[in-house]
Amino acid sequence: MDKRGKFIVFEGGEGSGKDTHIDRLKKKYAGREDIVFTREPGGTPQGEQIRSLLLTPRERKISVPRELVLFVAARAILLEEVILPALAAGKTVISNRFGLSTIAYQIYGRQCNEHLPMLQKLSAFAVGDAIPSDYILLDVTPEVGLARVRSRGDGLTSFDAENLAFHNRVREGYLKHISDYNGLVIDADRPLEEVWATVEAEVANIIG
Ligand code: TMP
Repeated sequence: MDKRGKFIVFEGGEGSGKDTHIDRLKKKYAGREDIVFTREPGGTPQGEQIRSLLLTPRERKISVPRELVLFVAARAILLEEVILPALAAGKTVISNRFGLSTIAYQIYGRQCNEHLPMLQKLSAFAVGDAIPSDYILLDVTPEVGLARVRSRGDGLTSFDAENLAFHNRVREGYLKHISDYNGLVIDADRPLEEVWATVEAEVANIIG
């Protein structure tokens, strides 16, 4: 019998509300030792170092190949140290982002469509068959999402600071590829409580 746990991933552009909804899920499921929350990039000490390297705004941008490979490296570390052991122990993993982010941001956002087959090969090598059981896309219009980010007033990451066209391409990538994973799309332009009601019900349904 396969006792691997569920692997739920939240995806979405800037200001889609992922952090808020995942925080609420953490509170709702506090004390459930069979549920592990994590995030990408990050989730391990080395992964958090890669996160700060990638997200800190800098004068000279890092190259797209370097950026892409670092995201996949952070993913490989997180898998080995956190996700795979948890799934093997039959736990549910809820991750803030996973592989679809690299397709949306590096392939679509950075306009490197010709590199999609290479990313797929690299992911097969580094990530193997660790495919999420449930992808949930919080789909936000970039104008709405970026306004939310700015209103938080806690500074912008190097990705937040990209122009609107970049964020529109990211959204396009998400919407094109979410169906590759049979994922669920939730309209995250709606008010927070409405989106939360959907998120809460969907996760309860998956976890059972
Ligand atoms: P966030 O956790 O606040 O969403 O920040 C992560 C940022 O990193 C976000 O702007 C999206 C970006 N990112 C990529 O560009 N590619 C990736 O593969 C991942 C996981 C994140």
